[in-house]
Amino acid sequence: MNQYEKALEAVKYIKSKTNVEAKIGLILGSGLGSITDDIDNSVVIPFAEIPYFEVPTTVGHHGAVVIGKLNGVDVVALSGRYHFYEGYSLEIITFPIRVMHLLGIKTLIITNACGAINTAFKPGDLMVISDHINLVSNNPLIGKNNDEFGTRFPDASEIYTKALKKIAHQTAKELGYELQEGVYAWWTGPSYETPAEIKMIRILGADAVGMSTVPEALVASHMDMQVLGISCLTNMASGILDQKLSHEEVIQVVRQVNGKFQNLVKNILTKI
Ligand code: HPA
Repeated sequence: MNQYEKALEAVKYIKSKTNVEAKIGLILGSGLGSITDDIDNSVVIPFAEIPYFEVPTTVGHHGAVVIGKLNGVDVVALSGRYHFYEGYSLEIITFPIRVMHLLGIKTLIITNACGAINTAFKPGDLMVISDHINLVSNNPLIGKNNDEFGTRFPDASEIYTKALKKIAHQTAKELGYELQEGVYAWWTGPSYETPAEIKMIRILGADAVGMSTVPEALVASHMDMQVLGISCLTNMASGILDQKLSHEEVIQVVRQVNGKFQNLVKNILTKI
């Protein structure tokens, strides 16, 4: 069975649980999943229940599709995501995005926690992703192309939709929030980068570095979805400060910023 046929099976299952017709999808990164508490009349479907979804293993990722109204807008949210460092194939990591597309999602908001490389940024800042650099010698579109999803050689000149970046900045301004903008580099993890690697990544042109988002954005763009990426900068990247990096620190900063982040996302939703 190819990925398209598998996705159709997953869609059939999800549609047996809800008849919400959402146009906006959300991927909630490490520690950012609590926004799903505010989804009204939510239908929660654990990944493990859905045909061809796998059960994620990382701390802080529950793994469920949550469907309902967020701030009055119908959404399909992924609470938890699959990471490359967990050992999943890029096909498995991006499968939920294929399913979202077949559910009718046109706009995808991808969130993550990441490290700041740009020294004008500080931990706790939010950043809209202007573009990305794929530092991982892999691409989720490698393999037989399913023409039902998109073309063999998709354009990548505007993966992160200009109009959505504008909405994000406008919304942040209205809320009185500072919102950075920058290039996100994808690193496999699970080890954080070395200081030498961060120097290299800075020279290559990235403002932030993290272990997710790029596979999902590539696949969403393959299917002509509009994409908005919002990062929570949880720490200065390796070697910038004389201190070690830890997952606990990342989760702690995400918790501190969570309210602001949720408010930003909720207000962006109403403008799309
Ligand atoms: N590097 C990579 N991924 C991350 C970081 C980091 O510094 N912080 C949070 N996720």
